[in-house]
Amino acid sequence: MSALDRKVAIVTGGARGIGRAIADGLAAQGARIVVADLEGADEAAGRYPDGVGLTVDVSSESDVERMATDAVERAGGIDVLVNNAGLYASLAMRPFDQIPLDEWRRVMDVNVASMFLACRAVVPRMRPRGGRIVNISSGTPFRGVPFLLHYVTSKGAIVALTRALAKELGGDDILVNCVAPGFTISAGVQEHPEVIDALRDVSVAARTLKRDQVPEDVVGAVVFLCGPGAAFITGQTMVIDGGQYFH
Ligand code: NAI
Repeated sequence: MSALDRKVAIVTGGARGIGRAIADGLAAQGARIVVADLEGADEAAGRYPDGVGLTVDVSSESDVERMATDAVERAGGIDVLVNNAGLYASLAMRPFDQIPLDEWRRVMDVNVASMFLACRAVVPRMRPRGGRIVNISSGTPFRGVPFLLHYVTSKGAIVALTRALAKELGGDDILVNCVAPGFTISAGVQEHPEVIDALRDVSVAARTLKRDQVPEDVVGAVVFLCGPGAAFITGQTMVIDGGQYFH
């Protein structure tokens, strides 16, 4: 028997990049995967036994509510929620006072409000049997990375959300943790050579482990936090960045 046999795991943004690698890792441990993504959810879900694909905009209240209802209807319940979907590489790096307000708000909606909405929709369905929530933050709030103020602020908020929600849900045996990756050569990053030019070499140079970070590097921490070995761990943030920042 594998660690996550008979568990149902929703992975938002699971169609590609870090989310896809996480979904692969959870599936390898026996979890039934629900891919919730704006694009390519059905195709991605088709890669897993009994996978369920849901086309969802995580910043939409009605979409996220439907995600939770459909997951229960089609997969029989929800044990794990990985809040991974987010805006990153498509955001232009620029001084803070040149960020348009509508872009600031969009980043907060997609990266932060989405996690509030997903937790609010999923937790009532998790309560009967307990569960695990893993939120994907980033190393950027710890390092105070410049020229992406909306993004860095959104990822810092996720650490705070994780801690406060963990306290609220401890009595329900729902554990809430956070994983903060360093600069990762994901599908989204690969679409933006200018981001690779700006960040790849400096990131590798700043790490203890001097190589590129790939989506698979993030998987072990997430799978651990969803499994039996993490049953007494909640409210924590694990920085996974090859030893760039010691949290
Ligand atoms: P990616 O662009 O490769 O994949 C993101 C996935 O999320 C895509 O499948 C996309 O369709 C989906 N998505 C985007 N907006 C959505 C929405 N509104 N509703 C539903 N799905 C949506 O991105 P990547 O790089 O794999 O990033 C995943 C997460 O990891 C993000 O939260 C990002 O901030 C975080 N992260 C990424 C790092 C990196 O260097 N790539 C470093 C640290 C954190």
